[in-house]
Amino acid sequence: MIQEKIEKLVNDALAKTSFKEVGLSSCIEASKDQSHGDYTTSVAFKVAGKVDKKPIEIAQEIGGKIKRDKDISKIETVGGFINFFLSEEALQKEIYEILEEKEAYGSGKEGKGKTVVIDYSSPNIAKSFGVGHLRSTIIGQAIYNIYKFRGWNVVGDNHLGDWGTQFGKLIYQIKEKKLKGLNSEQKKEMLNSLTIKDLEDLYIEFHEEVKDNPEMQEKGREWFKKLESKDDEANEIWQKALELSKDEFDRIYQILDVKIDNSIGESSYIDLAREITKEMQDKNIAVESDNALIVDFSQDLPPIIIKKSDGTTTYLARDLAKIRDRIERWNPEMLIYEVGVDQSLYFKQLFKIVEMLNWKKERQFVHLAHGLIRWQNKKFSTRRGETINLEDILNEAIDKSFELISNDEIDLQEKKEIAKMVGIGAVKYNDLSQHHQKDIIFDWQKALALKGNSGPYLQYTYARCQSVLRKEKVKTKDIDLSKMNDAEKSISRELVKFEKTVKDSADNFSPNIICNFLFTLAQKYNLFYNDNRILGDNKRLILTLATAQILKNGLTLLGIKAPEKM
Ligand code: ARG
Repeated sequence: MIQEKIEKLVNDALAKTSFKEVGLSSCIEASKDQSHGDYTTSVAFKVAGKVDKKPIEIAQEIGGKIKRDKDISKIETVGGFINFFLSEEALQKEIYEILEEKEAYGSGKEGKGKTVVIDYSSPNIAKSFGVGHLRSTIIGQAIYNIYKFRGWNVVGDNHLGDWGTQFGKLIYQIKEKKLKGLNSEQKKEMLNSLTIKDLEDLYIEFHEEVKDNPEMQEKGREWFKKLESKDDEANEIWQKALELSKDEFDRIYQILDVKIDNSIGESSYIDLAREITKEMQDKNIAVESDNALIVDFSQDLPPIIIKKSDGTTTYLARDLAKIRDRIERWNPEMLIYEVGVDQSLYFKQLFKIVEMLNWKKERQFVHLAHGLIRWQNKKFSTRRGETINLEDILNEAIDKSFELISNDEIDLQEKKEIAKMVGIGAVKYNDLSQHHQKDIIFDWQKALALKGNSGPYLQYTYARCQSVLRKEKVKTKDIDLSKMNDAEKSISRELVKFEKTVKDSADNFSPNIICNFLFTLAQKYNLFYNDNRILGDNKRLILTLATAQILKNGLTLLGIKAPEKM
């Protein structure tokens, strides 16, 4: 990788200066603007924080010591930055690698021998798949793909929300409203006829009725307690809700083209949760308070309940059990949780307990907190009247995308398949292209814009490359990329940044870094396409082929399909 080489050049130079004493090493970044070179380092600013000298002087001193290399045509210091321009030879070599390595180009080995567990999607049963869990699913899957590409052993783990007091309430309501007075045959029939929508309505109804009948609260708790003590009737009703939900989630995952390695729900962790709670009590990490057990962090964080006063387990206890299970199964170096920002405090508390239990060791725990997704000034929520059904949105995206496909050589069946790729791609890209911590607004026009930073724009650019490549065969041997014009050079310089981009997006847990890169590349390619005759020019065909490959590799990491025609 060329950037590693540059990094080494800078570090070697640094070691030859008096600044080596400060013990810093350089960090190379891909330049945002090609006029500032291809790669840049701000190491001088870091050094300036430690010695009494201006960054610009430090940069010049380091710059002067950098060994000449045939891959670099120019090194310049601007302000305190040291900028590197790649030589035509280096660009050519790298483009050649793109053509050689194909779908593996951009992959890496820094994760070799290391395991990361990614907790994503994790919807709650007895509800339709909310738009809120959409973000977790999309971002989590992209992070999964990116880490895998960088050589990690990746485990995707769907921590299904299938346990908790809410199911006690639901069971109570089902019994009261649906099962009263029925014999066991009729009960079975009734349970089989229930839909997710019914469950949602019953739950909402419970919350409306409880306002006037506060004793229902206690009933709900009782039924959860029964469920947790493996009561047959409670279990039968819960089981039904679980089945219904699993079918629904599978359908959504199929539309989204997402497959999660494991899906072990919270319900599988009751015994272990109790065991851990007991251990924590023995170690005085959990202490009694009003008949419940809590973890008190003194000043740092507010306390949190680990066992309810009625003896039932909590979300926290089940999460701790899950962690222990993950450690035992996979002994991961890293655990990433892709869960909404509203659980930030909770994850701080959870990770703190992990430290208190001495489970952390060298492990890194990361909460990737995504912001809200909004829709026409509304928060997506399951409160009555504001419910937005995800499946409807996805289907709408597919329908609207159908209209975007303008190539009339495509037959109806194929058009439908492409519309699915484009529609789902648009929804995913809209989410991934913005920093995950930001709240996002879903805007059809923006998501489906054929011009602009959108999924369809990238797919369209890819299809455009493919259409060129169908017209003329590229000679991939003996390529000569010397004497490139500005547009050609500009694309080449963009293409070769792909690997660094993927690595940065992994290090920063930010798929949007890949999106920005792909958008810039697509814009450059389209400019080039408009201003240059590509057919009949092998060099330009090569650049088209390489662009197509990189667009495809990038989109694949994002979980977005690249259609051959559009
Ligand atoms: N089911 C939870 C919710 O919807 C998210 C679970 C996230 N993962 C975890 N290990 N806590 O709020």
